[in-house]
Amino acid sequence: MCGIVAYIGNKEAYPILIKGLRRLEYRGYDSAGISLVNAGLNVYKCKGKVSDLEAFASGKDVSGVVGIGHTRWATHGEPNDVNAHPHQSGNEHLAIIHNGIIENYDSLKTELKKRGHVFKSDTDTEVLVHLIEDVQANEDLPLAEAVRVALTQVVGAYAIAVLDRNDPNVIIGAKKGSPMVVGIGKGEFFLASDATPIVEYTKEVVYLEDEQIVELRLGQEVRIKNIENETLTPYIQELELHLEALEKGGYDHFMLKEIFEQPKSIADSMRGRFHVESGDVSLGGIIDYEQKLVSAKRIIIVACGTSWHAGLVGEYLIEDLARIPVEVEYASEFRYRNPIINEEDVVIAISQSGETADTLAALELAKSKGATTIGICNVVGSSISRVTDAGSYTHAGPEIGVASTKAFTAQVTVLILMALRLAHKRGSIPESRFHQMLASLEKLPKQVEETLKTASLVEHISKQYKDVRNFLYLGRGYNFPVALEGALKLKEISYIHAEGYPAAEMKHGPIALIDEEMPVVVIATSKGNYEKVISNIQEVKARKGKIIAIVTEGDVTAAELADHVIEIPDTEEALVPILASVPLQLLSYYIAVMRGCNVDQPRNLAKSVTVE
Ligand code: G6P
Repeated sequence: MCGIVAYIGNKEAYPILIKGLRRLEYRGYDSAGISLVNAGLNVYKCKGKVSDLEAFASGKDVSGVVGIGHTRWATHGEPNDVNAHPHQSGNEHLAIIHNGIIENYDSLKTELKKRGHVFKSDTDTEVLVHLIEDVQANEDLPLAEAVRVALTQVVGAYAIAVLDRNDPNVIIGAKKGSPMVVGIGKGEFFLASDATPIVEYTKEVVYLEDEQIVELRLGQEVRIKNIENETLTPYIQELELHLEALEKGGYDHFMLKEIFEQPKSIADSMRGRFHVESGDVSLGGIIDYEQKLVSAKRIIIVACGTSWHAGLVGEYLIEDLARIPVEVEYASEFRYRNPIINEEDVVIAISQSGETADTLAALELAKSKGATTIGICNVVGSSISRVTDAGSYTHAGPEIGVASTKAFTAQVTVLILMALRLAHKRGSIPESRFHQMLASLEKLPKQVEETLKTASLVEHISKQYKDVRNFLYLGRGYNFPVALEGALKLKEISYIHAEGYPAAEMKHGPIALIDEEMPVVVIATSKGNYEKVISNIQEVKARKGKIIAIVTEGDVTAAELADHVIEIPDTEEALVPILASVPLQLLSYYIAVMRGCNVDQPRNLAKSVTVE
């Protein structure tokens, strides 16, 4: 979702801002803009991509060592040139960029209109910059103070950066509910919605907390205050992010690179967390709260999108192995449906970005009711990882493709380890099965590597189905969430309608859709309800549907029935979701490429959904 980058220092800001905006493209956006302070305040913005912005700014005055840049994902007002950020105050002295939603913008706007303010756009952001101008004019305050006072009147979420042509050596940032990080270089500062635009310049960062206001002034130290006007000491951290991780490394798309990185990301997510010989599994980050998990009456998993699918695999794992009841909730539903939560519950939030607004709010609700909260996040230092009592990071590395791939398999890996640890502690798993599972787990990265060798076969199959309008994905047991995730991947990046279903439920509806035009992907691996899945395949064949079957290597029965067969290595039933997901990721990738879709930045989608 919206990306923010700002620079103040001794270099020309424009190239740094443009490069920063390119790094932020992965978040998803529909327009872009920049503002630079020099003799005056220049603002350039337009609908479209960063390249459109560059074309628009070409030949214009882009000088200046202080500037802000933004990629906008529309919430209030359609994506067009006027609604793009930065927005300016009525006197055109101030420029602002904003990520989030000002919920009371309507009442603020009415008030400001009464005081003579005239608005050009439909955005909530323009209201905020007029409000700052209003405070500045009425109370004669310096910019930082005017921003602080204005924010006391705001309801909603924001990460903002503000420039003032009358005070050209400063950028003011502030955040609440949307992430913001400050980079500290030599005689220069950066401000961004995540560290990707900063990493090539400095490793010293400060993650702002909610309701903090930062003043970045040339020649001075970073100054942070809270909304109550108390001065705070900045906590400077070292950034654990490497530039190579943000580049495509020879692959055509980030998504393909990330699919192929899975042997490593899964191994990294396991590393040091178990030993086959000693039979030890441990997740250091949750050790202090482990007893809460072991004795939990119930575990509630909250998440959105792909992370919700990982949560569903988690439910199967924890109930099957550790015998603790689990509920998996869409965070957006959970937070508003007055759920029953108490102090004996443990709430696990799963989130790649660690910033998803609904997941964060669901956690805060659970916390307020006294539940223990655990995070499974990929981004170190993210909001969710900070608000939870404890957590386990997935070590998938930065995921840039909007459609989640390696983060999903890393989440499932951590959930497998968590379920095994809890099962062992609770004595709910026979020793022999426990050891066998650890041994199988150790083999997984190699088996994912094997599975990736199906890529050319999957590419070949994709050619035959790239023009269909619908797809059905079926799976049972552990493979049901895999079917949901496979369908989501295809929808997200190829814009083909796809539905995931529990295989047996097909008879209660989707079977009506099946004819010779309809491809049906069936995960028919050898363990767990295999015969029943075979019957489901027969039901599809009887209606002339086309079957693409994901089977265990050496399978003959499913292979005979299916139109196309993709083999994956044999493993424990509980570990199959990781292997079976890989060909489904590849299928969606190749189909999307063949349809000419923008794989890494699919239309309308955002990588990190920081508004509800
Ligand atoms: C967006 C992304 C999905 C992701 C979901 C949840 O919709 O496009 O790929 O699964 O948000 O994000 P999270 O960061 O919380 O896992």
